[in-house]
This record gives sequence, C-alpha cells and structure tokens, in this order.
Amino acid sequence: MTNMEIPAGLKELLQGYTVEVLRCRPANLVEFAVQHFTQILEGQKNDLKAKKRSTRSSLKGVTFETKSNKPKKEDEEEEKDIIKSTTAKYSRRVSVCAEAYNPDDDEDDDSEPRVVHPKTDEQRRRLQDACRDILLFKTLEQEQFSEVLDGMFEVLVEPQDHIIDQGDDGDNFYVIEKGVYDIFVQKDGVSICVGKYDNKGSFGELALMYNTPRAATIIATQEGALWGLDRATFHRLILRNNAKKRRMYEAFIECVPLLKSLELSERMKIVDVLGVRVFKDGECLLMQGDEADCFYIVESGEVKIMIKSKAALLVSQTKAGQQDNSEVEVARCSKGQYFGELALVTNKPRAASVYAVGETKCLVIDIQAFERLLGPCMDIMKRNISQYEQQRVALLGSSVDLKH
Ligand code: CMP
Repeated sequence: MTNMEIPAGLKELLQGYTVEVLRCRPANLVEFAVQHFTQILEGQKNDLKAKKRSTRSSLKGVTFETKSNKPKKEDEEEEKDIIKSTTAKYSRRVSVCAEAYNPDDDEDDDSEPRVVHPKTDEQRRRLQDACRDILLFKTLEQEQFSEVLDGMFEVLVEPQDHIIDQGDDGDNFYVIEKGVYDIFVQKDGVSICVGKYDNKGSFGELALMYNTPRAATIIATQEGALWGLDRATFHRLILRNNAKKRRMYEAFIECVPLLKSLELSERMKIVDVLGVRVFKDGECLLMQGDEADCFYIVESGEVKIMIKSKAALLVSQTKAGQQDNSEVEVARCSKGQYFGELALVTNKPRAASVYAVGETKCLVIDIQAFERLLGPCMDIMKRNISQYEQQRVALLGSSVDLKH
C-alpha cells in the first residue's frame, strides 16, 4: 500500500461534525452529515461572494478606516457620521423597507416631543425587571435608559400570535417580560425553527438597526407579555448610542484574535449588539451546571476558570444536598480572550465556573447573536474546545465527564 497522506482540513471537518452531532443529537447521522456538510459548502460559496462584494464596496468608498483618518469632530457630529456610514453600508441590502434612517432628519432631535406611555407603578416595576439584563440597554446613560422605559408600551400576547413575520418592515423592538417565543427562519422556502426565547431576552432589533426586512418570524407558544419600543425612539436612543459604542470598541474589537477572520462590517455588527458588564473582584460571572445564555470577551482585568474537583463531584453525587465547593483552577482569560462558548456550542450546562480576578470588565453577547454572528469563528472555537478535555484530564487525572 502507498503512503497515505491526510488531506489538509480533514481533521477540523470531522471534529466540527462530531461537535455538531453531540450538540444536536440527530436521529439519522448520515442525513445530518449531508445537511452539515452542505451548509459548510454553501458557507464557502457565500464567503467567496462576500469577499468579492467587499472588494467592490471598499472601492466605492465608505469604510471606517477612512473615517478615522479624518480630523476629529464634535462628538455629536461624529456620531451622525458613523450612523450615516452604517446606513450607507447596509443600504445596499435594503429591499422592501421604505423608510431609511437618516440622522440628518434628527437635526433638532432633542426638541422633538418624547414618546411617553404612562404606566402604573406596578407596570413600571415589571418593565424594569424585564429590562434589567437587556444587553442593548447596558451601555445607555441613565437618562437615555429612563427615556427608553418611558417610551415602552405593554403588549399582551396569546398562543400562536405572530409577533413578527419574516420579510415585513420593522416597526417595534420587543423586550420579553414573560412567555416562550419560537424563532423561525425561512431557508429555500422551508421554515426552520432555529431557537426560542424562554421568558427573557429581546428581539426585533435587526430590521430597525440596519433598515432591512425582518430576518425571522417570532411566534408566541403560550400566553405572554412583551414591552415594545417604537422605531423612532429606538433610532433616536439606541442607534445614537450604538454609534458611540462603535467609536469606543472599534479598536479593541479589531485586536480580539478570535474575531480576526471576520469582515470589518461583521465585527461592527457584534459591537452593535454587545453589552458591557463590570464584575467585582471574586464575583462569580457564571456557575458550573447553570444554563447558558451568554458569551463573554474580557475587555479589561482577568477571570479564572474553575471546575469542581473529582472528589467534590463524587461527594455531591453520593450525598445529595451536601455542599462541597472545592474547585480546581483550569485556566485564566485576560484582555481580548473569550469564554462561555462551550455550553453555547454543545447545548449543555456550563462546564465550569468563572470568577473575576480584580475588577473585570467584559463584553457580553447573547446566545442568539452568538449563533447569528459568530458562525464564521466556529471552527476556531471548536478547535480550542477539543483541547479542554485534555486540559481537564491533565489537571484532574481522569476523563470523568464534568459537563453535568
Ligand atoms: P428583526 O430582523 O428585526 O426581526 C426578527 C428578529 O428575530 C431579529 O430582528 C432578531 O432579533 C431575532 N432573531 C433571533 N434569531 C435570529 C436568527 N437566527 N436570524 C435572524 N434573526 C433572529
């Protein structure tokens, strides 16, 4: 037999497929393999198209780099420029939406009457609870946040209500107070359920941010309650704040190794939806065994990743209810590094706990944005994930499955 040469990329392809199988647990492995590899093939073709598009668009002109070479302007002016360049960038993709956001129309924004939907104390309390962890609101100043709360209105929903239909124009942004909502995306004429919101989170930001048709259909599966924010108020408060966020995080996000393979516009979409959270020294950011909903990138400071030792696990398995908190440090992440992806990729509970070492600031992305925007980085993440098990075995001397 002649010498067998393993083709480049084969290992990564098979690793990727294995992780997907573990994540989705399909009934038919062959059918799933066909789907999986077809998606990769389509992704490769799209990448090629995107590269051609981006070469053409950068020749046309509007890029963030050219902006940063301009002399510095007043803050407000600069924000408008960034929003304008964003609108220009995305306007190529606009199809059915008639109204484009033009910051020039906002010239006397502040003199415009604020939209206020009166609320009872009880409604306001429920609204505040629902909005507490909404990432898009996390970087707002207190005053802007209050304006957002004032502008929100309650929407009660029945099972099977279509809150949003894919392809429609965007009217409102929604925050979930309660209820479960399925997310359907049409692909080749077939509607596929790609996920769900379970009593928390928000949706409907994309059509408003990028002036595009609705990208998904959202259907209530049970009675629920939402808080809506109209398009104009969303533009005035959230898009302005996003312009500021882009200015603040453009340079940092460029330097995050994981995101290097993304196009600039893809990195900026991540900035648009991220939230910022600050943790005190020793604070637990996420707990082993918890359900996962977010992905983190360290902006400053450091975190340590701890897993329960084998002994601790055995005690907690044999003596139900008894607490044994002995944990082993398996890794640290500092500026530019990420964590929290494993549970999102494998669809399992958190495999480790994470604690702040000193005051630590993290950029946070929710699971829907993670799946939508970080697909192109999946191969890098999967490669790193395959090293975690070796790390655990080396530290704990056993391959006990610590993911549960
Ligand atoms: P928008 O396009 O305005 O309306 C549909 C919303 O569904 C979209 O904004 C997102 O907030 C949300 N969504 C959740 N998952 C997805 C997904 N995979 N693709 C597109 N939109 C999604």
